[in-house]
Amino acid sequence: MQRVMGTRYLTPLREGGSLPGVVEADNDGTYVVKFRGAGQGSAALVAEVVVGELGRRLGIRVPELAVIGVDPEVARREPDQEVQELLRASAGENLGMDFLPGSVGYDGVGWEPPPEEAARIYWLDALTANVDRTWSNPNLLIWHRRLWAIDHGAALLFQHSWPSVAAWAARRYDLSQHVLADLVTKLGPAVLAKLDAELAAIVTAELLKEVVALVPDSFLVSLNSVTEDADPAELRRRYVEYLLARRMGDRGWWPTEAIA
Ligand SMILES: Nc1ncnc2c1ncn2[C@@H]1O[C@H](COP(=O)(O)OP(=O)(O)OP(=O)(O)O)[C@@H](O)[C@H]1O
Ligand SMILES: [Mg+2]
Repeated sequence: MQRVMGTRYLTPLREGGSLPGVVEADNDGTYVVKFRGAGQGSAALVAEVVVGELGRRLGIRVPELAVIGVDPEVARREPDQEVQELLRASAGENLGMDFLPGSVGYDGVGWEPPPEEAARIYWLDALTANVDRTWSNPNLLIWHRRLWAIDHGAALLFQHSWPSVAAWAARRYDLSQHVLADLVTKLGPAVLAKLDAELAAIVTAELLKEVVALVPDSFLVSLNSVTEDADPAELRRRYVEYLLARRMGDRGWWPTEAIA
């Protein structure tokens, strides 16, 4: 991932629960930044990198991600008290996502993505337990008439409590409220089974290692859920293990029959 330095805090994205903000960087790029110092801690940032980059490799459009440095000096120029504190608590490495200017939130009105594309996103969400793509909070943007997936911070639920690998691998999450469920249903069980096989074949141990390697150490060592001395290499191994177990399992979480 590209590494840039934040130069100016432009504006908060007030609707975002994790207090994301728009920040200008020293490469003249504009980024939506998820701050390490926000309430959820760095777990949300780990999920953004792992799920976003996995999605990209599954053929899903995800805005480019970058590691963005925050200098507490930037906080000094910030009049808003809450933002100032957030920036101070986030000194160091944070997650930046390329800001898509003029994008609009997907609402299913007037424009729909191709069902096959919707199914890829649905599969990613089922694999990674992303329950945060509902009608009330679609976390999908339309930009240049194409669908872009954002906000994977709530995925990878295992990282908050580290249940047994087997339990997590088999667990179904309720995706009945998923914003794309109706579109996915249209494809029918045969097409969905084929897509499942295609996507599962992409998610190899090698691919997962490559994706997890993109997570900066600084996100891993500050996980709230890990109290023992956290070795980033050991934590990366764990993420690969959990994801691989889920993709190797019976994939009861991919409701080919249920949604058809
Ligand atoms: N890359 C982007 N380009 C343009 N706008 C964006 C981008 N990423 C996010 N936004 C806008 O900012 C809002 C908040 O972002 P995001 O959903 O990632 O934050 P969040 O704090 O996790 O939100 P919540 O938990 O409320 O869903 C989005 O709904 C969208 O309107
Ligand atoms: Mg969101």
